[in-house]
Parts: sequence; structure tokens; C-alpha cells
Amino acid sequence: MRVGVLTGGGDCPGLNAVIRGVVRRGIADYGYEFVGFRDGWRGPLEGVTMPLDIPAVRGILPRGGTILGSSRTNPIKIEGGIERIERNLEDLGIDALIAIGGEDTLGVATTLTEHGFHVIGVPKTIDNDLSATDYTFGFDTAVTIATEAIDRLHTTAESHHRILICEVMGRHAGWIALHAGMAGGANGILIPEVPFDLDEVVGWVESRFKASYAPILCVSEGALPKGGDLVTKDQSLDSFGHVKLSGIGEWLAQQIEDRTGNEARTTVLGHIQRGGSPTAFDRVLATRFGLNAIAAVKDEAWGTMVALQGTDIVRVPLHEATDVLKTVPIERYVEASAFFG
Ligand code: F6P
Repeated sequence: MRVGVLTGGGDCPGLNAVIRGVVRRGIADYGYEFVGFRDGWRGPLEGVTMPLDIPAVRGILPRGGTILGSSRTNPIKIEGGIERIERNLEDLGIDALIAIGGEDTLGVATTLTEHGFHVIGVPKTIDNDLSATDYTFGFDTAVTIATEAIDRLHTTAESHHRILICEVMGRHAGWIALHAGMAGGANGILIPEVPFDLDEVVGWVESRFKASYAPILCVSEGALPKGGDLVTKDQSLDSFGHVKLSGIGEWLAQQIEDRTGNEARTTVLGHIQRGGSPTAFDRVLATRFGLNAIAAVKDEAWGTMVALQGTDIVRVPLHEATDVLKTVPIERYVEASAFFG
């Protein structure tokens, strides 16, 4: 059996741990051969590969990023893209493909499955917004980084009696803001699922100052005021049609300064949340996903994705991960709001 492996979309701590799990078990237990595809779907689309054997995966467990490279190439948007992939996979003698990615990458994997190709999916995103899995690897690392940042913001905010806003990633789902905000003791958390009322946010800030503490707000990049629009960097779209977000933190700081007369500053964590070494939780989850993905190849469970449910790794149909985005339920937000203000 010749198995192709690719990593697509935004990178994520733990990708290398998945690749290592797949290759180590695949060679040792099943005697498979592996082909690494470069830069997400660009690899199979253009036939760009790299060797993927035991030496290639040595020492990569704690390393961030992906040894295969990644991209947001969308073959569905390219005329004849899927047919080109099918031809290349056939020419390279690939019997099965393991696609490690988020909503977009797994959406393409679902299309390939519908064309009859043998695909197994592995869920990946720091945003934790894929359905059918309780957690995606990379999320715990992103939350840990954001929590450490909020801890640090507390002390400088206190020294200067300022409002400090921490803007984190999360395009449509506020999981990172919710968890990092709770763990870091933020005085307000703003997420895309619950449009915020500016007067209420100003109220939280004022009550925090009255208690002689400096307010910290944790804001998802996709958060938006009631009746307002998303704040974007510019109008450009990537090949999956996503705008570049970021700017809500700055906008909020300005509004709060204008209304309270207190100084406000914003820290945008951006790609720092995605870079560097994965936490132990993410290394274990990613490794288990890798081991189970190659077992799914062995069982010919085509069109499925490995997922975490409770403490078990299970198999679910690929489309279950991508049909509906897993957003923050309102009860989780209400729970966190006990500490607002
Ligand atoms: O999809 C994960 C994600 O981290 C989003 O939260 C964020 O909006 C996006 O990636 C940023 O992507 P890029 O690195 O392509 O700008």
C-alpha cells in the first residue's frame, strides 16, 4: 500500500506529531510506503512530493509547523483541479490519502471521496470549530499562549490604570477567546457568536475601575458589535473566500477611550498563537489521531475522519466535520459571564 499524506490550511501545533504517528505505525506495523505531498492540495494538484520515511519523521514530535508545508490552495476553484489530482495520484501509484486539515481541507477531501478516491481525514485547527470532535489539536496550545499573554497584560494594566484588550484568533467561533479569557480572568470576553453591546462593555470597564483594578478584555478577531460589521484588514479574499480579519481590538480601544476618558491599548496575538511547540495535551491528541488514521487506512474505512469523543478516538463520516461549524453554545458564554465587569 502506498499512502499519501498532506497538511492543508493554516498550520497548527501538533501537525508533525500526527505525521510521525501515521508514518511510524504505518511502516512498523503494516509495512506501508509513504509519499509526502507538499503544501496542502498544491502537492497532489502539481505532483509535488517529498520522501516520507522513518528518518524524515525523527525528532519532529515537539516541533511546531509542518514538515510537509501547508497552503490554502483550493483545487475546487481551479478548472479541472479535481481531475488533475486524480491523475497525479494515479501516476504516483497512491492507493490512499490522509488529509490533515480544517473545514476547507476536509471539504476538498469529501469531494475526492465522492469521486471514489480512498481518503481518511484528520481534524486540525487552533480554532476548535470542527463538529464531530470534542477537541482539535492545536487549540490547547493556542489557549495556553493566549492565557500567558493575558496573565502578563494584567500586571502592566494595573501599573498604568489602563484598559488592555487582547485580540485572539477565531473567525466564526470564539473558543480561543472563551477559554483563554476564562483561564486568564478577563473582565469581558467578546466572541463572534454573541454580538456585543458597547454600552455594556463600557459598564464592565467602569465597574472594574471602581473596584480599583484595571480591566482586561479578551476579544475574538471575528467579534462584532450589535448591528455592526466585521472589522477586516482589507477586502482581499483567499482561495476559500475568507477575508483577512483583525482590527476589532483597536476599534474597541478607541471607542472605550472616547467614552470613558481612560487610556486603552490593544495587543493582537495573531500568528504567535499558531507557532512553536505543541503542549503535551496536543502532542498526545495529535499522536493518537495519527495512529488511528493509519489504522483506518488498514481497515479501508474510506471517507471517514478520526475524532475525539470523550477520551476515545472514533471514526465519523468526513462530511460530519464540515457540514456545520462547531460554534460556542450560548450556555457556555453565559457561564463565563459570571466574571464580567
Ligand atoms: O483557521 C485558523 C485561523 O487561525 C483563523 O482563526 C484565522 O482567521 C486564520 O487562520 C488566519 O489565517 P492566515 O494565516 O491565512 O492569515
